[in-house]
Amino acid sequence: MSLWKRHQIFEKNSVVLIIGILAVIAIGGLVEITPLFYLKSTIEKVEGMRPYTPLELAGRNIYVREGCYLCHSQMIRPLRDEVERYGHYSLAAESMYDHPFQWGSKRTGPDLARVGAKYSDEWHVTHLVNPRAIVPQSVMPGYSFLSEAEIDAATIAGHLRANRTVGVPYSDDQIANAAADLKAQVDPDNGDVDALVKRYPKAIARNFDGKPGNPTEMDALVAYLQMLGTLVDFKLYDEKANLR
Ligand code: HEC
Repeated sequence: MSLWKRHQIFEKNSVVLIIGILAVIAIGGLVEITPLFYLKSTIEKVEGMRPYTPLELAGRNIYVREGCYLCHSQMIRPLRDEVERYGHYSLAAESMYDHPFQWGSKRTGPDLARVGAKYSDEWHVTHLVNPRAIVPQSVMPGYSFLSEAEIDAATIAGHLRANRTVGVPYSDDQIANAAADLKAQVDPDNGDVDALVKRYPKAIARNFDGKPGNPTEMDALVAYLQMLGTLVDFKLYDEKANLR
């Protein structure tokens, strides 16, 4: 019997075909999945990554609430055109504290993974209030209400605790000081910024929305955007990667 004839057994009998398909998929699955159990970690450790400050976390919550991910990705692929436009491609470790991750699957607007420190705070506030004030043909909605909405610092510790439940390594010290750290980051003159930076290296403390008074959602969102992509020092990272 030729191979062709033998194959008829599968083609003429759906039960045999299903068993054959399952056998082939099982082998493929084993080949792909088994090695993962022998790796120490699927996310390599990268220096500089730390859990978000309470203010950045509040900003991230607003980013998720407003659905910014529906138009913006946060994942630069290792392709030449993307790396030239946005910067170093994204590392898995850069979203290890994101629950849920914000990779996104749509780019109506540009990727935001490295938008931190690209523009001034004032640029972000003006753009978020009315994107067309800066890019006349922009289709991004305005979010002027963020400037008016105050953040209740008392509730932020709960968000840190919730993130700890799903694996973000917030310490008891960070949770106990969450409200104070949130206020200190937008009002450095009246808060303990040294303690904030000790708990969260590279944290930037300043009045992000440019307005006096209590922390607003605008403060939090701009603080989050200005941090994106700035935690990992890629000069150090690439040197180390080359040494390996
Ligand atoms: C309907 C789609 C849409 C939504 C929703 C949206 N954006 Fe945008 N965004 C755009 C487009 C298009 C641009 C490019 C034009 C511009 O700068 O306005 C842009 C640009 C930006 C830029 C400038 C990026 C750069 O590198 O120049 C930032 C920052 C930004 N958006 C943040 C946000 C945030 C934060 C949210 C959620 C509060 C958001 N966007 C929601 C479409 C969107």
